[in-house]
Amino acid sequence: MSANGVSPMHSPRPSAHASPLLEVRAVSKRYDARTVLERVTFALGRGEIVSLVGPSGCGKSTLLRVLAGLDRDFDGELLLDGAAQRGPSLRVGVIFQEPRLLPWLSVANNVAFSAGPRQGDDPRVARLLDEVGLAGTGAALPKQLSGGMAQRVALARGLFPQPDLLLLDEPFSAVDAMTRMRLQDLLLSLTRAHGIAALIVTHDLDEALYLSDRVLLLSTTGPQRAGRLVRDVAVSATHPRDRRAAPLADLRNELLEGIGAAV
Ligand SMILES: Nc1ncnc2c1ncn2[C@@H]1O[C@H](COP(=O)(O)OP(=O)(O)O)[C@@H](O)[C@H]1O
Ligand SMILES: [Mg+2]
Repeated sequence: MSANGVSPMHSPRPSAHASPLLEVRAVSKRYDARTVLERVTFALGRGEIVSLVGPSGCGKSTLLRVLAGLDRDFDGELLLDGAAQRGPSLRVGVIFQEPRLLPWLSVANNVAFSAGPRQGDDPRVARLLDEVGLAGTGAALPKQLSGGMAQRVALARGLFPQPDLLLLDEPFSAVDAMTRMRLQDLLLSLTRAHGIAALIVTHDLDEALYLSDRVLLLSTTGPQRAGRLVRDVAVSATHPRDRRAAPLADLRNELLEGIGAAV
């Protein structure tokens, strides 16, 4: 309670939107004696779509697990809306390459899983399934779905707690090329409709340039081969983007040079 009797939790937070949504400050991560991430620092704004690219083994998944609160054993600081964050939060949703649905629960119960194991009757579930193009599939079991459909369910499950940020680790790497393009467009429309930010790990530069407002390049440099941020490239092209457009090709070359310089 503050002096005027208003609980700080319920008082307006005029300063809340002055800070970025997520601040990553000097995050370093070691596995035993080996430093895998070295003082990674960046910020992510509300509604911003940012891709994280870099060669295999440079620490992308490690960084995402730290940001998701799934790995608390790191140095540095994470701030969500200016407040220190350690551990998972319903404000941060995570999507992996595999949908990771629970096979014994219906699609609807999987979507609502963050609210409890059998909350699939929540009317928001049907709305989300409709949004991801799966209207009417709530009673199905995961084994009845294709890989692309299962990943749509994972997106709906990620959105169910109404997060401010989605963290996605190579979310479309396991599906065919056509499905992948449809899922990319779905992700863009969902993040826009819900006003949420996304950090997408991908090793596909074209995917990064098609989706993102910014592309971060993580690479292993120095004698320790620790992952560091070596480029932060803004992508200003408007949406919908032409996947073959020349400005994207120029940025692609800039990122390739960055990768080449670092390896
Ligand atoms: N649990 C772990 N124990 C030890 N080393 C690990 C562990 N997880 C990942 N690593 C190492 O950390 C480095 C970064 O891995 P990772 O974050 O999975 O890379 P990326 O996702 O960029 O391919 C790799 O060299 C990997 O071998
Ligand atoms: Mg990885």
